[in-house]
Amino acid sequence: MASFSRLQKIALLSLGAVGGSLAYYHVNSEKKEGKFGVYNSWTTNYTPSVKWEKNWDHREPESIVRPEKTNKPDDDNRYNEQIDKARSKAVRHLFLIRHGQYNLDGVTDKERTLTELGRKQADLTGQRLACLDIKWDLLVRSTMTRAQETAAIIAKHLDKNLEIKDCQLLEEGAPIPPEPPVGHWRPEPKQFFQDSARIEAAFRRYFYRAPPEQVNDTYTLLVCHANVIRFFVCKALQFPPEAWLRISLNHGSITWVSIMPNGNVVLRSLSDTGHMEPKYITSR
Ligand SMILES: *[C@@H]1O[C@H](CO)[C@@H](O)[C@H](O)[C@H]1NC(C)=O
Repeated sequence: MASFSRLQKIALLSLGAVGGSLAYYHVNSEKKEGKFGVYNSWTTNYTPSVKWEKNWDHREPESIVRPEKTNKPDDDNRYNEQIDKARSKAVRHLFLIRHGQYNLDGVTDKERTLTELGRKQADLTGQRLACLDIKWDLLVRSTMTRAQETAAIIAKHLDKNLEIKDCQLLEEGAPIPPEPPVGHWRPEPKQFFQDSARIEAAFRRYFYRAPPEQVNDTYTLLVCHANVIRFFVCKALQFPPEAWLRISLNHGSITWVSIMPNGNVVLRSLSDTGHMEPKYITSR
């Protein structure tokens, strides 16, 4: 942004014509020096540092429909019809819920149960999800104890007929070595080797634009873990995945990602615990 000093006020005082009117000119001195340019949002000659990969989920209609070999108008029409049929029409909303605070002294997963505070957090998040007035389509929970417990508490607040599934792919792990590295968290290379493929598979299982036959928007709850959610957010927004550890998530927090019919992805909230009194908010 140009600093205020570069905003030059030029009073158009040409007598008789536009007497008294005042125009502000944005003088782009950097551009004159050849360093930066300033562009309008609709401009086409601007090159972003990284382009959005439109076909990230392999569901761009143009990547699914085989082009016609001829240039006959009939073939063109048929092709365009097929493209239209392959086009997504609804939004897929994913609500990523981190489990509540849990007993870090536990050695096995079974011993790593929610603390009393963790159960409280799950309860508050369940209440919050219930009052959003959303018709939930599915709740998927990681098979780890703390996620199972959190999901059970949340489900108490939701429709009794809500479909609930377990998914091992959503378990906690080491998605990719973080950049910058941190001293206090150093998994073995072996762990990245196993976990990254699994968490990548989890991403592909849940992140994709709606199939063309889906008519209504869907709302899916994924109750899982901080590393998994942070990695998902980076991947979904096409940020460098190794940036995941720069994000912090609260216990019981709500992260809301929407996948639009054209494949664009919107992060609507990240680690939201606005429904909790500050005394209940923890992240570690
Ligand atoms: C889509 O939503 C409408 C209106 O809520 C409902 O009547 C219909 O059953 C839904 N269709 C499907 C396939 O869920």
